[in-house]
Amino acid sequence: MNKELRKAVIAGNWKMNKTPDEAKVLIEEIIPLVKDASCDVVVCVPYVDLCTAVAATKDTNIAVGAENCHWETSGAFTGEISPSMLTAMGVEYVIIGHSERRTYFGETDVTVNKRVCAALKEGLKVILCVGEYLEQREQGVTAELVAMQTKIALQGVAKEDLKHIIIAYEPVWAIGTGCTATAEQANEVCACIRKTLGNLYCEACANGVTIQYGGSMNAKNAAELLAQPDVDGGLIGGASLKAPDFAAIVAATQ
Ligand code: 13P
Repeated sequence: MNKELRKAVIAGNWKMNKTPDEAKVLIEEIIPLVKDASCDVVVCVPYVDLCTAVAATKDTNIAVGAENCHWETSGAFTGEISPSMLTAMGVEYVIIGHSERRTYFGETDVTVNKRVCAALKEGLKVILCVGEYLEQREQGVTAELVAMQTKIALQGVAKEDLKHIIIAYEPVWAIGTGCTATAEQANEVCACIRKTLGNLYCEACANGVTIQYGGSMNAKNAAELLAQPDVDGGLIGGASLKAPDFAAIVAATQ
């Protein structure tokens, strides 16, 4: 029942794939396939594709997101992009704290929190990623870990801003491995995240937050995952690079 309180959101995370020309082709392929979607549809693309993606999705039901942003507005931060640069381009969403950023680029819970606050201040919608390594799952600390990641990431975030936050539960062991979490595993952790939000804010606030699952979600397994009571959408890597597969996942939210 609570699920009706939340908008389902399917977001593609293209990661480091597609040149601007390739991005245009893929988006033009996706547009007709998702035009009647009952959920929100987002494509998060590399920085160099943002301009193309914003232009290609104009007057469609597809929103565009970036895959990261810095926490400062401007300054001596070679290679970084600020939230205001994104909004100036017409970008609406930003992924923050993806496990690939945490693992390969030194992202910590503290820097994730700084980015979340800066992005919200600029009016971006945030897709905040949390999730455990296989070792941590085996050690039985998944619930504590995602609760901690969620708590630190949201420090200083006001209740009113929660409507601009989506949380993506992405178990690291499921990302790009074809080893999807079972629907029960996905739901269990998404429910833990919701409980954490309930404790931090209030139960009604928590019930309004869209929580996605990500990690080898595909056209075949999406419907079962998305039918879970606490799974409100998906953050899709590999399958978002194939228009028919991405569209099938979007359709599976119905
Ligand atoms: P895959 O769907 O390729 O496993 O990637 C998931 C992911 O990391 C989305 O952010």
